[in-house]
Amino acid sequence: MDLLTEPDTLSGYPFLDPVKEERFDPTVHLNYVPPEKKITMQDLLLSQSATATPIAGTVPFPLLSPRGVRAYRKALFQQDVIEKCASSPFPGTLVLRDAVKHSQFIRDFWTHPETMKIVSDASGVPLEVVMPTEIGHTNIQTEGATIAEMVGNLKVEPSVEKLELSLEERAYDPLKDETSIIPWHYDSYPYVCVLMLSETDGMVGGETYIKKGNGEAQKVEGPQIGHAVMLQGGEVQHLAARAKGVAERITTITSYCAQIRNIYDSSYTTNIRPYADLGSLYPEWTRYRLRKLRDEITHYLDKAEHESNFSFQREELQSVITQQIEYLQRTSRQMVSPEYQEQILKKYGKAAYYDVFRIWETVQDLPEFETLASSTDQERGWMPESVYWMDLQKSIETIRMKKPLQSTFGTHPWSKSRKYYMGDELLRQGLNEVFLDWLGSSGLWDVYSKHRVSNEFK
Ligand SMILES: [Fe+2]
Repeated sequence: MDLLTEPDTLSGYPFLDPVKEERFDPTVHLNYVPPEKKITMQDLLLSQSATATPIAGTVPFPLLSPRGVRAYRKALFQQDVIEKCASSPFPGTLVLRDAVKHSQFIRDFWTHPETMKIVSDASGVPLEVVMPTEIGHTNIQTEGATIAEMVGNLKVEPSVEKLELSLEERAYDPLKDETSIIPWHYDSYPYVCVLMLSETDGMVGGETYIKKGNGEAQKVEGPQIGHAVMLQGGEVQHLAARAKGVAERITTITSYCAQIRNIYDSSYTTNIRPYADLGSLYPEWTRYRLRKLRDEITHYLDKAEHESNFSFQREELQSVITQQIEYLQRTSRQMVSPEYQEQILKKYGKAAYYDVFRIWETVQDLPEFETLASSTDQERGWMPESVYWMDLQKSIETIRMKKPLQSTFGTHPWSKSRKYYMGDELLRQGLNEVFLDWLGSSGLWDVYSKHRVSNEFK
């Protein structure tokens, strides 16, 4: 659903407060208290990869004052923001993206030097926002089947309404729930700040679990109203538990990368491509990636030009270049053609796009798997001219050398005993739409669909 089917004039949401948003003032709207605890990679028994920094995340800490929360909500619920930024992936959920482009308050709050210092201090590393489009991505859970209905439920004053929970709901264990909305995953960007804009009194769930090196799940409480948590979500595997028991739940999220040299950047556009406006995402993505590359190159050039005792370190420079080649390659691969993406999503659906890992797991257990996957990769009839075949060869060589592969699901050596297929390569790169296309071309999608249908009738 999008706004085209909703009222499209300014009078479309007469219940929205017409009062203009406040001006951001850190002395009024912020209420920062440093996190009581920072969780390190070491605490989690995780060996730190080359792209990671030592702090994995924080416990919730106060960030916005009560007035700050209300000012933020007021900024979100403006007609202009709702009209231009709202979409609904499913009933009961509203997503607001790019509010930063229509709200001065939201822009000023997230980009203010004081806020930048807070998130950087909490993460133990200087951070910069990845792209403007990733400032204040807002998820709203509230009742309603249409955008207008849901918007009608939103007030500047946070709702304190609690919902009756059954015993079963109270005993809900997200670690045992396979249908958890957001199962174990890595984020698309290195760091994230999640800020709570709703009352959490009476809420069950809503916490984050981080997977430790020994396989155990470490629980991090969800933030209360006005509180935030920082997470190095691109580097630690985590799960967000479903929240129940409250009439509304509004979180707003900004993504960051480290502003330091020599930290290989683990960003992908995979999770946002299906619903982002690619016409504005790709230029922002390009600027962000090229800026980082430029800073990296400037750093080495400055060293070479200005440090009188700088000795030419051939090996160091070569390793930097190798890293940058991979970085540039990913920058390019992550910009999947909009027409191609649209065509694939139409054919397979967005649900399949977000379910590729489960689909791939299922497909591997089917008797036809090895034959179909092997012959597709041997014949190369699918996209014979594409760069993905080179990528596949490179990964196969990396596996042969027993070196780890960088992927959307962390950096690990290949651990399976079977052959490495194009399906693996495309998922590694977070090219879910290309993966579905390959799966379809190999015949595996049809086998999978039949298997699914026959399972439904069992
Ligand atoms: Fe996440």
